[in-house]
Amino acid sequence: MITPVIMAGGRGSRLWPLSRQLHPKQFLPLTGEGSLLQETLKRLEPLEHRDPLLICNEEHRFLVAEQLRQQGVTDARILLESEGRNTAPAIAVAALKAVSEDPDSLLLVLAADHLIRDIPAFHASVARARELAEQGALVTFGVVPTHAETGYGYIQRGEGQGESGFRVKRFVEKPDAATAEDYLATGDYYWNSGMFLFRASRYLEELERFQPAMVAACRTALAGAQADLDFIRLDAEAFRACPADSIDYAVMEHTEHGSVVPLEAGWSDIGSWTALWEVSEHDDQGNACFGDVMLHDSRNLMVHADHRLVATVGVEDLVVVETKDAVLVAHKDRVQEVKTIVERLKAEG
Ligand code: GDD
Ligand code: MG
Repeated sequence: MITPVIMAGGRGSRLWPLSRQLHPKQFLPLTGEGSLLQETLKRLEPLEHRDPLLICNEEHRFLVAEQLRQQGVTDARILLESEGRNTAPAIAVAALKAVSEDPDSLLLVLAADHLIRDIPAFHASVARARELAEQGALVTFGVVPTHAETGYGYIQRGEGQGESGFRVKRFVEKPDAATAEDYLATGDYYWNSGMFLFRASRYLEELERFQPAMVAACRTALAGAQADLDFIRLDAEAFRACPADSIDYAVMEHTEHGSVVPLEAGWSDIGSWTALWEVSEHDDQGNACFGDVMLHDSRNLMVHADHRLVATVGVEDLVVVETKDAVLVAHKDRVQEVKTIVERLKAEG
């Protein structure tokens, strides 16, 4: 049976000012009734699975526990990081936990902050991925790219593996814009959706090969973990000493066991305000509005009013986000740079 591993330790800084350090985007209801985390849990309901493992920062533990409770999920275990070391160690800790309970564990690694519109299509891809994972593959889910996005990993498809998927010929994490354009032109690249399915033991073997110090640190952090209610608090000192890296750079770019299964399920990682605009409902002028908003002669806006009325006149291609203590106005083509504001705010205290 599959053990879902939900990574929920990101900061979501490109969705500032709605997404904040104490309340990052995975805990916000951006696309559905529930938060992105709750929608992720709901998506798992049709799958027969073991108790999910969730891994997040300790400062969000009560938020996570409350959102699980609201969702009726009572059997999850929550691994707590004192400080994020990126996704490769987060997944390693979950993998070590899972193999300690069942050496053959299959992990379905999910991000807590993605949107998937077509749930049956998602489960069809998971079923195909499972066949390959059982044969020892590290399976990624590939999305057909629509533009030269530089915030994603790119997967070049190799030889076919029956009906299920393809071998990964090449995996390149976050290429520059010119390289991404080249990949797009060839037609045999997918975007990496950032979800994975593999045997926990296979992931650990590969990580051991490429990043042995990481595996050692994660082992120590888990061995020294303290149980506390439903929480498993990793040993802070050991985890702090762990090298930080993402699964994409640490493993997927180097492994020879990569496979890709196509995913056509209305996936979005809601990585920016423009990405949220794309997946939201629009009026006939292309505006997506949330909250108390009044528009006059305005086009292609993403407007989010949290506390006050927001009105616009004669503007286009803008993102306007109003919250209690901060207002963002950005051009729709520059939304990736919102995170520089967050970095400056942090630096200036
Ligand atoms: N527990 C934990 N600890 N979770 C983390 C940490 C951490 O230190 N860092 C990130 N996460 C979580 C985030 O909350 C998110 O759910 C997921 O892991 C992926 O991290 P991101 O930081 O959002 O990665 P990314 O978007 O830059 O890139 C990844 O996703 C893209 C698709 O959205 C990569 O896998 C790319 O290759 C991929 O295209
Ligand atoms: Mg992301």
